[in-house]
Amino acid sequence: MTDKDATQGIVAEVIAAHSGQDGPLLPMLHDIQSALGHVPEIAVPMLADALRTTTAEIYGVLTFYHDFKRAPQGRHVLRLCRAESCQAMGAAANNDAIMQALNLGWHDTTPDGALTLEPVYCLGLCACSPSAMLDERPMGRVRPETIAAAVAGLR
Ligand code: FES
Repeated sequence: MTDKDATQGIVAEVIAAHSGQDGPLLPMLHDIQSALGHVPEIAVPMLADALRTTTAEIYGVLTFYHDFKRAPQGRHVLRLCRAESCQAMGAAANNDAIMQALNLGWHDTTPDGALTLEPVYCLGLCACSPSAMLDERPMGRVRPETIAAAVAGLR
């Protein structure tokens, strides 16, 4: 069995598990991402067929919700806040410096698969802006050097 066959099998199982439900697309997408870590391209036409809709409709939902990932994520995820409070405390320049130091753009993953960089729009840490989250670890008053130290040695 190829990886593609295995992926199709998982997607087909998720689709079957939700068949007959009202409004099954979001639960299907969540379950696919939960099983595979992202929603692979191959799932889109399968979902469109199963739900008797267009691939454009599926892409529309998939791209509207930023929590759905269309590519595998790194083993660790760094989220940098881009919302208002953090912006007021210099997040834009700070984030640019962090991205330059990591050589990553938004949604990029390092070539070794260790780290993915994602934007986030408020972590509820506004009093400690600018903020970030490394996996489940919230970080306040971040600077490029604190991020560099936090991600050093991640594998
Ligand atoms: S705006 Fe960044 S944590 Fe709230």
